[in-house]
Amino acid sequence: MGLDASAGTVKVMRDRGVENVVGSVPDMPPGLGEFDTVTLFGNNVGLLGSLRTAPRVLEALATVTRSGGRLIGTGTDPGGDDSVHAAYRAWNVGRGHSPGQARIRVRSADIATPWFDYWFPTSEEITEVITDSTCWALEELHRSPDGPGYAVVLLRRDHQTGAGQS
Ligand SMILES: C[S@@+](CC[C@H](N)C(=O)[O-])C[C@H]1O[C@@H](n2cnc3c(N)ncnc32)[C@H](O)[C@@H]1O
Repeated sequence: MGLDASAGTVKVMRDRGVENVVGSVPDMPPGLGEFDTVTLFGNNVGLLGSLRTAPRVLEALATVTRSGGRLIGTGTDPGGDDSVHAAYRAWNVGRGHSPGQARIRVRSADIATPWFDYWFPTSEEITEVITDSTCWALEELHRSPDGPGYAVVLLRRDHQTGAGQS
């Protein structure tokens, strides 16, 4: 089952035989069901949004993951010595943001998405947001031996606490 914010992507996936719905993390459509494994591949740990919004997004993803199930995601550490990106990271830190915080839009010719927050958390920041007040436990963290990429495996814990509850 796939979920994507892009209706065009969903159409392509359906044409290729994949069950797929239009929807946006964290405001997912009701009735998706509960899954053993939820994936955020292709750098989509970025959908956690920011340090501030990550607990709410993790809470939303927990609602579609069965207890004992897993969330597997990939990300890219925003480090590195590229001078343009280094300046951007320094600007972020200077205004109290995470170094890998970005607000982006995707454009092709005259078609553009709305602006949205996308976060390139460091692998250390990922470990910081998985606190006892989330429904998740950090099970595995794999850093690429030859690049900035990493993968995380989170275990959906039994108890329901924390962020997003009122
Ligand atoms: C980098 S691609 C990754 C696609 C796929 N997971 C993969 O590994 O090939 C990012 C995808 O996330 C979708 N997307 C962006 N924001 C989203 C959101 N808030 N909720 C669901 N999908 C989103 C985009 O439309 C795009 O198809």
